[in-house]
Amino acid sequence: MSVAQPLPHDAARLHVTGAARYVDDIPTPRDTLHLAFGTSPAAAGTLDALDLDAVRAAPGVIAVMTAADLPFENDVSPSNHDEPLLATDQVHYVGQALFLVIATSHGAARRAASLGRATINETAPILTIAQAEAADSRFEDGPRIYGRGDLDAGFAAAPHRLSGVLEIGGQEHFYLEGQAALALPGDNGDMHVHSSTQHPSEIQHKVAKAIGLPMHAVRVETRRMGGGFGGKESQGNALAVACAVAARATGRPCKMRYDRDDDMIITGKRHDFRVTYDVAYDDAGRILALDVRHDTRCGWSMDLSLPVADRAMLHADNAYHLPAVRITSHRWKTNHQSATAFRGFGGPQGMLGMERIVDHVAHALGADPTAVRRANFYASGGDISGEKKQTTPYGQEVDDFIGHEMVARLEETSDYAARRASVDAWNARGGVIRKGLALTPVKFGISFTLTHLNQAGALVHVYADGSIHLNHGGTEMGQGLFQKVAQVAASRFGVPMEAVRITATDTAKVPNTSATAASSGSDLNGMAVRNACDTIRERIELHLAQLHQCRPCDVVFEGGRVTAGGAEYSFAEVAALAHQARISLSSTGFYKTPEISWDRVKGHGRPFFYFAYGMAAVEVAVDTLTGENRMLRADILHDAGASLNPALDIGQVEGGFVQGAGWLTTEELVWDDKGALRTHAPSTYKIPACGDCPEVFNVALWDGENRADTIYKSKAVGEPPLMLGIATFLALSDAVASCGAAYPDLHAPATAEQVLAAIHRARGA
Ligand code: MTE
Ligand code: MOS
Repeated sequence: MSVAQPLPHDAARLHVTGAARYVDDIPTPRDTLHLAFGTSPAAAGTLDALDLDAVRAAPGVIAVMTAADLPFENDVSPSNHDEPLLATDQVHYVGQALFLVIATSHGAARRAASLGRATINETAPILTIAQAEAADSRFEDGPRIYGRGDLDAGFAAAPHRLSGVLEIGGQEHFYLEGQAALALPGDNGDMHVHSSTQHPSEIQHKVAKAIGLPMHAVRVETRRMGGGFGGKESQGNALAVACAVAARATGRPCKMRYDRDDDMIITGKRHDFRVTYDVAYDDAGRILALDVRHDTRCGWSMDLSLPVADRAMLHADNAYHLPAVRITSHRWKTNHQSATAFRGFGGPQGMLGMERIVDHVAHALGADPTAVRRANFYASGGDISGEKKQTTPYGQEVDDFIGHEMVARLEETSDYAARRASVDAWNARGGVIRKGLALTPVKFGISFTLTHLNQAGALVHVYADGSIHLNHGGTEMGQGLFQKVAQVAASRFGVPMEAVRITATDTAKVPNTSATAASSGSDLNGMAVRNACDTIRERIELHLAQLHQCRPCDVVFEGGRVTAGGAEYSFAEVAALAHQARISLSSTGFYKTPEISWDRVKGHGRPFFYFAYGMAAVEVAVDTLTGENRMLRADILHDAGASLNPALDIGQVEGGFVQGAGWLTTEELVWDDKGALRTHAPSTYKIPACGDCPEVFNVALWDGENRADTIYKSKAVGEPPLMLGIATFLALSDAVASCGAAYPDLHAPATAEQVLAAIHRARGA
């Protein structure tokens, strides 16, 4: 069976040879035009005038559009209709699109765009949380508050109490392929759009509104992305809409791609957070009461900030049972790029806050952080004898908790106790190089919190020669979704992988899809494809059962053969036979996640179908004279359920971990006091490279199956491993802790400069 096989990514060969086609590689008709935005140099103010004469006169320019030239809706927001494609009277951040240049080449469009002159009556931008709070500049009327238990009683009864603050920086997606779109106008105003997007249906919807046609006139196709990481859930809307509007105006194909600097300046990033906490605990470090506050900078428009901030709240417990807790979340509206989805979707920030709290408590007690973590873990399988199941702060039963078993295994395989002792002994010598060790858990909820998004569709054709054409609503961004889903299809028909053709995501084949996000791509689309395949298979079974006088359940599909009542065929023969018998060999499939429900106003329900778990132990070395540091060793145990493809899953775990560690160490976004992003190129924004991987990197998958009834009992794996990178941050904190008595005042990202400053504070205190 193809499922569970460690097959390589279906396009691995194409990726490494450069033959894989991305939007910018699609051969275009000769009269294709190229677009670029002219952008705002100011973070806030009123747009009084736009002088575009020089732009219009520039070589190669065919047309220039402003908001006034847009024929229908001027909106690319995925949520609140608060995001004009082109600015109208107000500007909201440095980099906001003011006008659109349509030219004969990419270079000509960009050069012309730089010639625009905007007269902006600047006002003081809101850039910090303090400024936003002073101006009450926020989304929603006030903070959102979730919680349970008697906080006051918890604080009153507890023997110990501490408080603290953690600043958490944002993160640039740094997908290798930048944002790109291509619009090809057809008959009657129809539009065919190729877009590098995680959400083709949304692109279709926004394009249709922008060109004033029903969705049936717009077809969106996405073969693959060169990475999305959440940055292509909504941020592709502007390019696709611009291309469609320009193609409608000129009657010619239009293409747009952002250069790296433009991409970084224009598009949204991970939300930065401040987590403020007040925690009460007992002698064993058990948390009795927790009051935690999230302040998040959302940028200028709403985008996906509300569900992102919600998910942070839903992960404020991480793996720990909190008897009394209040989580308060402020969503600040500021003059920055509109922060957006990024792998983990707020979960990482909420979880890091909690891990910091547990670590702080352990330090205050002088206890081993792993012991304090254990003391606070949810009970195994959620069972505590004689009592009812433990629930999260939002009321979901935790009935699949495996943290105790995982930590025991990882302590053994990583030799944790001995290395803890040797790190402490090393640091006791007081040398220049200090070491740090941390072991942190991940518990991540799987499902979209907006319940209706948890659905998927598929379309499967079996051709008369036995070859299979596969389509579903998910998009491929490097995570291996297409291969996993093809493995499902091959398994259902018992055919080799070569029999299954993976095709581009296409809104004309499967309608009304959800974004490929929330890690649920394979859960949702795998099930929809299984359902479509099984419909076709049942029709064939019925036919062969009649023909050979056996029961339908005795028809077996295996090894490319089909057997029924003593007869044996190749799958191709069966396909031809069924075709001749006038049996439909094409079917749609559909799936919706069962059992979930969520009331986001009350903050109560079962938002998640299940949880995915992981555990990481990371050791670092820090040079206390410079703050320079590196990972020496990382040991990871990750729960992918019964893996659909262990090779791809291990790839997701390794990549996610390194991306998470990058977020919390070297990746620093710097805006100046005018609100301009100063780190807008790889020269100033440092993502981890191969050389930043730990020297010893042991990654294993937990061998258990999902308790929930998912596709072949697998678990979603796309986002959860990113949060394993929290161990790297806390290992650095552990190294800094050896330099002084106080708990380290270390914030994220813990760049070398930040580590050095924290060491100085530790020594000074
Ligand atoms: N892996 C690669 N190689 N490239 C990506 O862009 N995106 C991540 C994750 N893994 C991403 C990735 C994010 S943010 C999500 S939500 C999931 O993949 C989406 O895919 P899935 O639902 O199929 O796991
Ligand atoms: Mo992933 S942040 O849900 O696209």
